[in-house]
Amino acid sequence: MTHNKRFSELWNIITKHISFDDKIVADIGCGNGEFIKAVCTAGAKQVYGYDKDIDQSIENLDIDLLWIDHLSNIQIIEIDINKWLPTVLSSIDILACFSTLSYLDNPQDTVKNFKTIADTVLIEMQYIGDGAGKLIKNDAEMYCWLIDCGFNVVLPVGKTHIVETQKKRTIWLCQ
Ligand SMILES: C[S@@+](CC[C@H](N)C(=O)[O-])C[C@H]1O[C@@H](n2cnc3c(N)ncnc32)[C@H](O)[C@@H]1O
Repeated sequence: MTHNKRFSELWNIITKHISFDDKIVADIGCGNGEFIKAVCTAGAKQVYGYDKDIDQSIENLDIDLLWIDHLSNIQIIEIDINKWLPTVLSSIDILACFSTLSYLDNPQDTVKNFKTIADTVLIEMQYIGDGAGKLIKNDAEMYCWLIDCGFNVVLPVGKTHIVETQKKRTIWLCQ
C-alpha cells in the first residue's frame, strides 16, 4: 500500500488515540479511499465511504488486488453531503471527515449531524489561508466552533503538514 506523506502523518497521529479493531467506521468525503483502506487493515468490521465523486475511491480500491479480501466490508456511497439526512447513517462507532467540511454549504449543521450518529468524530478542516478554508482562523476558533456543535470532548490530537499550502492542519478528536 502506498500512502502520501500527509496521510502517513494523519494515520500515525490518529492510531495513537484510537483503535479501529471491530469498529463500524464512516469516512465523509472519502476522496481516493486511502483512509478506508487503512481502517480495514486495522480491523474495522464495516466501513462506509461517502463522497460526491466516488469514481476516485472505487478506482483506487478496485485496482489494488491486495484489498479484495476486504471489499465485502466496504460500502462506497455517492452522496451530496449538503443534502444529507442523518438517517442515511446509523450506529457508527467512528466517523471521520478530513479536509471536506470547507467545501460544504453549512459545515456546522453537518458536524452537528455527525454528533448525533457517531460515538467518536475525527475532524480535520482547512482554516482561512489554507486552500478551501473560509470559516475558521485558528485552533482557538475551531475549538469553540466544535464545542458549539455540541461535543463534550474536543481534543486537538496532532497536526499534519500540507505541502501545497505550507500550512499545518489540526486533527480533532470529538465525543
Ligand atoms: C480535499 S478532498 C479530501 C479527501 C480526503 N478526505 C482526504 O483527506 O484526503 C475533499 C473531498 O470532499 C468531497 N466533497 C466536496 N464536496 C462534497 C459534497 N457536497 N458532498 C460529498 N462530497 C463532497 C470531494 O469530492 C473530495 O473527495
